Amino acid sequence: MIQTICVAGAGTMGSGIALLCGQHGFTTILFDVNADTLARSQNSITAMLTALVSKGKLSVEEQMQIEQRLTFTMDIRACVADVIIEAIIEKAQAKIALFKDLVAMNADACIFASNTSSISISLLQESVAVPGRFAGMHFFNPAPVMKLVEIVVAPQTSTDTALALQELCEALGKTAVLCKDSPGFIVNRVARHYYLEAMKLEASGVASIEVIDEIMETNGFKMGPFRLMDLIGMDVNLAVSQTIYEAFDKAERFQPAELQQQKVKAGDLGKKTGKGFYTYTS
Ligand SMILES: NC(=O)c1ccc[n+]([C@@H]2O[C@H](COP(=O)([O-])OP(=O)(O)OC[C@H]3O[C@@H](n4cnc5c(N)ncnc54)[C@H](O)[C@@H]3O)[C@@H](O)[C@H]2O)c1
Repeated sequence: MIQTICVAGAGTMGSGIALLCGQHGFTTILFDVNADTLARSQNSITAMLTALVSKGKLSVEEQMQIEQRLTFTMDIRACVADVIIEAIIEKAQAKIALFKDLVAMNADACIFASNTSSISISLLQESVAVPGRFAGMHFFNPAPVMKLVEIVVAPQTSTDTALALQELCEALGKTAVLCKDSPGFIVNRVARHYYLEAMKLEASGVASIEVIDEIMETNGFKMGPFRLMDLIGMDVNLAVSQTIYEAFDKAERFQPAELQQQKVKAGDLGKKTGKGFYTYTS
């Protein structure tokens, strides 16, 4: 039975996933190598819970209980749990190195899941000593709000692991969709063109960022492509584009956009840095 969850990486996604786990009664360990990120994550989780209390959606007592379930740590030795959900930077080698350490420290029944948006789950799986207990668990941003989770099954993922992660999604109030490992899985493959075509339109002078966003939002999309890229993080979005581009033998249709690369070079990563395609004050 899953009681304790360790979330590795306290950035945009890890922070949201940890909050979600705490809200649904799981003892949750949130691990990061960066002290500032951990502090920011703790503050933002408290701020989100406080906002829910002010809106009458949560009692002060419930807020305290959720906060008590959450531990923030930079000590990898604290990362002992029934399930590990990895949400660190989108770099295969960093993920593999971390999984190696976490597998060595955790019990035989522990399940390992990566929240990667685009790195091959099969590649990660081949590099860990427990391939049967390894799968992708792809949450969407913001994790506490978005309903969908893609459970990405690679060739060696056991049926028990897939089932356990499906049940975990249910316990977290999510809708799980099982999919086979493939570049970009389902959503990121389909959505790639939402971003890339929008940037091509802007670059060719057809319409401005603001106009493209407004048109898409007026036509039923929850967020325009540029606003969505700012929310995702320019670095994360570019890394996903690059991985999918490579995976499809550099097919022109998946080629990362110049504009995206310039933004990353300039450090304008979107909401998390206060500036991306738009500027943010808080
Ligand atoms: N941003 C999105 O919209 C989104 C959506 C779904 C999935 N993802 C995936 O989730 C993962 C994290 O993305 P993010 O947007 O939260 O990134 P982020 O840049 O906000 O956070 C990444 C965090 O990982 C930490 N980190 C780096 N190396 C580490 C290590 N070895 N051990 C522990 N922590 C480490 C960093 O300090 C940072 O806090 C990526 O794999 C990304 O593809 C992102």
